[in-house]
Amino acid sequence: MQIFNICDYFGFIFVAWCAKNSQVQLPVESGLRTIDASSSNIVRISNTFELEYQWTYINYTWPSQSEYQNSLASKRYIPENNAMSGIKIYNDRIYMALPRLRAGTPVTLAYIPASSAKKTNVLLTPFPSWGMNAQASCSSLQNVQSMEIDRNGVMWVIDGIRFNKFTTCPPKLVLLDLNNRGKVLQTYNFPNEICLHNGGFLNDIVIDSSSVNEDEYAYITDNSGQDPGLIVFSRRRNTAWKLRDRTMFADVESANFTVDNVPNVNLVPIDGIALSPVQKYPSDDRVVYYCALSSHALYALSTRVLQNEPFTKTDYWRRYIRFVGRKQAQSDGMVLDNKGNLYYGLLPDDAIGKWNIFDGFETAREIDRKPGVMIWPDSFAMDNAGFLYVLANGINKYFAPTFPLSITTDPKFRIFKLYTGTKSYLYQ
Ligand SMILES: *[C@@H]1O[C@H](CO)[C@@H](O)[C@H](O)[C@H]1NC(C)=O
Ligand SMILES: *[C@@H]1O[C@H](CO)[C@@H](O)[C@H](O)[C@H]1NC(C)=O
Repeated sequence: MQIFNICDYFGFIFVAWCAKNSQVQLPVESGLRTIDASSSNIVRISNTFELEYQWTYINYTWPSQSEYQNSLASKRYIPENNAMSGIKIYNDRIYMALPRLRAGTPVTLAYIPASSAKKTNVLLTPFPSWGMNAQASCSSLQNVQSMEIDRNGVMWVIDGIRFNKFTTCPPKLVLLDLNNRGKVLQTYNFPNEICLHNGGFLNDIVIDSSSVNEDEYAYITDNSGQDPGLIVFSRRRNTAWKLRDRTMFADVESANFTVDNVPNVNLVPIDGIALSPVQKYPSDDRVVYYCALSSHALYALSTRVLQNEPFTKTDYWRRYIRFVGRKQAQSDGMVLDNKGNLYYGLLPDDAIGKWNIFDGFETAREIDRKPGVMIWPDSFAMDNAGFLYVLANGINKYFAPTFPLSITTDPKFRIFKLYTGTKSYLYQ
């Protein structure tokens, strides 16, 4: 048996040995407790993320040299304007979303091999194809911020950046079969009442395939400045509804923070989302956690409430929103593993926080801080070998329309990984 197999399946028994063999430090829990995770008396446990990949600019596996040269010359491809946001892992690939925030972004969904020998400026391959990334037709992918991959290898892609000029197509959810070269299985175009065709921003997505009624749901944050909310999509019914509440808006007091010397003063609403792990029985409730970006507050809502479309059309459902706690700082992406550990970025601290949902929020800890390196931890992914990945992308610079972008020797995008010995929330 290989080391990986043992730690993969019995990592919870051989914790110290597995941790040593994967060269990570064991968390050292302190006896100190703070009520509020954002108080100054922060207790840190050390869990060190290792750098896995980095990019000073993004380039692709072009079909030919002439295609590459022509795209550069015509400014269809402006290297410094390409950015990556959502990352997810399936089999031997890391998939990444490339939001079209500036001109010259020829691709919006791509992948790299998960274990490339080369670790710097690895070329990205468009997925499912160059054609599916062309903006010519609304059936191809237009402007993608994130995605999730279910246990059957179906990628649920949210093609919903609709606050800029790069497309006039309706925002949509596209299901791609990763076991069949990314074949389109299902498409849902969001009506304007659910996601604004001019002003909407589908930001992040979690998948719930565990319901009693044989349906599968996606819970999606709409980060729109005009109409933010939490969107529920039913796969079987191919329909969606939206929940709107003040807990999904920014807090003015949390809306001024600095990351990598760049101030962020925008009032950015609901963004990060995470789903509690699959329960033993499908009838057992699951919980969606969400937070506005310009806020310290973390909120929770039962999937039973979210799935009940008629109930969400009343005002009673808001009584079920639970305030969980105040995080140490503002966050973008979050993820939950199958043991109930929530990992979330701490944007102004260049750090990562962790909290187990079965404990009080006062046990939330900052677990790793990399000043000047872990810049804007945005998106998390988990593989099936016990590793957690995080992409740090400084994405606020790409959103700021006037921030000058240029290619330098400084890495702009970094993917780190940490051995946790767990799987994602999609597993029990
Ligand atoms: C971009 O990638 C192509 C291969 O697809 C390669 O020929 C070209 O040299 C690369 N450009 C840079 C600047 O790395
Ligand atoms: C943000 O905070 C900085 C430092 O405290 C301050 O100088 C600046 O005026 C603030 N900006 C806004 C828009 O509140």
